[in-house]
Amino acid sequence: MNITSKQLRERWLTFYEGKGHVNVGAVSLIGDGSTGVMFNVAGMQPLMPYLLGKPHPLGKRLCNVQGCVRTVDIESVGDESHFTFFEMMGNWSLGDYFKREKTAWTYELLTQVFGLDGKKLCSTVFEGNESAPRDEETAALLQGLGIAPDHIFYLPKSDNWWELEGTVGTPCGPDNEWFYPIHAAGDAPVFPDDYVEIGNDVYMQYRKTEGGYVPLENKNVDTGFGLDRMLLFLNGLTDGYKTDLFSGAIAVLERLTQKRYDEDPAARKAMRIVADHTRTTVMLIGDQRGIVPSNTGAGYILRRLMRRAIRYCRQLGVEPAATMCAAAEVFIGEVYGEAYPLLVEKREYILDEIKKEAERFEAMLEKGMAEFEKCVGGIARKNAFMAQKDPSYVAETVIGGKQAFRLYDTYGFPLELTQELAAERGLSVDAAGFDAAFKEHQEKSRGDLHAGEAKGGLESHSQQAVRYHTATHLLNAALKQVLSPDVNQKGSNITDERMRFDFNFPRAMTPEEVQAVEALVNRKIEEDIPVVYREMSLDEARKEHFVGVFDAKYGDMVKTYSIGEFSKEMCGGPHVAHTGELGRFKIVKEQSSSAGIRRIKAILE
Ligand code: ALA
Repeated sequence: MNITSKQLRERWLTFYEGKGHVNVGAVSLIGDGSTGVMFNVAGMQPLMPYLLGKPHPLGKRLCNVQGCVRTVDIESVGDESHFTFFEMMGNWSLGDYFKREKTAWTYELLTQVFGLDGKKLCSTVFEGNESAPRDEETAALLQGLGIAPDHIFYLPKSDNWWELEGTVGTPCGPDNEWFYPIHAAGDAPVFPDDYVEIGNDVYMQYRKTEGGYVPLENKNVDTGFGLDRMLLFLNGLTDGYKTDLFSGAIAVLERLTQKRYDEDPAARKAMRIVADHTRTTVMLIGDQRGIVPSNTGAGYILRRLMRRAIRYCRQLGVEPAATMCAAAEVFIGEVYGEAYPLLVEKREYILDEIKKEAERFEAMLEKGMAEFEKCVGGIARKNAFMAQKDPSYVAETVIGGKQAFRLYDTYGFPLELTQELAAERGLSVDAAGFDAAFKEHQEKSRGDLHAGEAKGGLESHSQQAVRYHTATHLLNAALKQVLSPDVNQKGSNITDERMRFDFNFPRAMTPEEVQAVEALVNRKIEEDIPVVYREMSLDEARKEHFVGVFDAKYGDMVKTYSIGEFSKEMCGGPHVAHTGELGRFKIVKEQSSSAGIRRIKAILE
């Protein structure tokens, strides 16, 4: 069957809409901070509150196609099947239908809509453990659909259980995975060697807690089928870079490098890396809550991806900024523009960020490479010298952690880059030593940051002062909402006992206004909203309506904190993680400070 990525998205949605599901659309690729997961890694992630029991405004049957970013396998990108961005086609039952309907629909979709041979399908189910029973129910339903018993396998938790790694309080459960033989397997494929997974249906009936798995009231279904994988598969391909998602970008790379993807294995690997990382770059910068490369959090992951792509462009002998921009234009225009119109809107911005990062990195790359060569040369000299003195000397093959940190700190070489360069020379890097040097540096700069903030209104750094600091953000937003959007913070002073907050307003507040502001702040505290930190360009902060003192220059990076949509401020922090940590907010005085400036004194009880 020949099917394009656009048709595949459409057929998935049409099929499930036909079964009473509502398309909820895609959310941001950037995690909202609620789970500690940096990126959206699965379609279920934004639906977690609903899987845990909250009623969804659009009903109990939902579907969508959701972009996901998974960077754990970044080192494997370059082969034919690993990607850092992919789209997950999903559908959900929120306490509505369960195994009978789900097995039947997946089977129908695979065999009738996509024309796969039901006789060749294999399926795996959970073998059971102390938390959940062996899934004989699903196995029986699969047999009822015509899947032969010897095509159904019981597997342990490591295979047939789905949960968000590293989280607690999140929904999870046993899953039913679907497999099909790879194109080249012939007529008698053997499971599992000749098979690849095409997707899974998770029977989400548990909540993961510190103490174990607690049954949920609702029995949910959470389905995820990878669009990139499925596309490959349905078109009888084995190389993921041959689908219409990548063929355009690869063609551009072939044209610019004058190298042949099919005939030159080294160039092929480099082209895959450039294409994959550029696609993820486009998606992350062009996202609805887009990020830019930086040295922390999600921004650092993006920077690593971009710098790795830049390095492989150089290896291919082409100019990185122009090459990545040319590939990016294909993704924005031909491939994803229709499904993600925001990319088209943010086109110039995305290309500009790519150019800027390439310039920043290239300015340092020559010097950094010289420094790297010095490290390698030092090791070689030492080895030669020692070998002469002592024939039994074992050659040194590790680049020191401090040296790797210097390459990072002074020349912007992500650790992974140094590791890759080292591997090309048969060397490794002391990663633990790198981490130690990194931590030492962080502690030092944290000390500096604190010293800086003390001048900016925070006189001490106790947890209590941090609470008051977050409370000033809530108060600032509440004043704007109750009094006027023209109200702005004019100063603040915090001790462990109280906060003072000055703002422009032409008259005394009425008792009702004071009460309304106090109540609004307390409501936001009760809602226990996560306080989310992000570093972004000043330009972006402006666009996203962050308030604060705009004394940075255009293009500068600024630190921002948002509390849901309620409060968005540029600020150096520190802040509490959730507003619930603030306790009760009480205004004790509202008075004049100077002409046109009012002052509020408030406490947290
Ligand atoms: N949550 C499941 C997955 O990510 C569907 O594969």
